[in-house]
Amino acid sequence: MAGELLETNKKLITYVGALRSSILGFILLRWYVAGGVCVSKKRLDGKTVIITGCNTGIGLETAKELSARGARIILACRDLDNAHKASEIVKKFSGNSDVSVERLDLASLDSVRKIAEKVKNDEAKIDILINNAGVMMCPKWQSEDGYEMQFAVNHLGHFFLTTLLLDRIKEYAPSRIVNVSSVAHNCKPHTRVT
Ligand SMILES: NC(=O)c1ccc[n+]([C@@H]2O[C@H](COP(=O)([O-])OP(=O)(O)OC[C@H]3O[C@@H](n4cnc5c(N)ncnc54)[C@H](OP(=O)(O)O)[C@@H]3O)[C@@H](O)[C@H]2O)c1
Repeated sequence: MAGELLETNKKLITYVGALRSSILGFILLRWYVAGGVCVSKKRLDGKTVIITGCNTGIGLETAKELSARGARIILACRDLDNAHKASEIVKKFSGNSDVSVERLDLASLDSVRKIAEKVKNDEAKIDILINNAGVMMCPKWQSEDGYEMQFAVNHLGHFFLTTLLLDRIKEYAPSRIVNVSSVAHNCKPHTRVT
């Protein structure tokens, strides 16, 4: 009897130990995967922020956070229905109703030209431009202007938008242009063996 109890006790201790290690491992993994954390409490009252491709993902989270800090947010997205849904999410999260939606398809230089013109006409100022939208590993596609899609959306479209808005952004210095990228740029190219 005593031997059985001892055996059960041992098993229990092993299970509890394994459970503890699993929980600790899970917490550490979550912490590692979560990446960097912004600890700044800085407010952005009175600032106008344009974020590209922010109906979902990192862009949407950025919009929610900056809106909660008091900024006026312009969601520049290619699908207006999704953008309006995102705008409601941002407003509900932040309690800040100063959120608007503009159409932007980065695969079309004409669309980029149009949004830049509209924003320059409608907005009193632009303090922050966040070039966030991106596509990755898409099929062999071309943009409206005949460029490879990934290059067109991730690089050309954003470069053109930034160029068109640059003077206005500089007027409100200290202003910011943020290009969302990837740690993948740190990867060493494959060594070619000849
Ligand atoms: N998530 C990651 O682990 C990771 C890692 C490295 C880099 N990044 C970079 O971080 C940025 C955001 O990533 P994410 O994971 O949040 O991406 P995501 O969830 O796939 O969102 C991408 C956004 O870009 C928009 N977009 C795509 N093509 C567009 C176009 N032609 N014109 C305008 N908007 C367009 C999408 O709009 P639709 O909804 O209409 O498609 C969507 O809102 C990207 O630049 C990405 O390369 C992300």
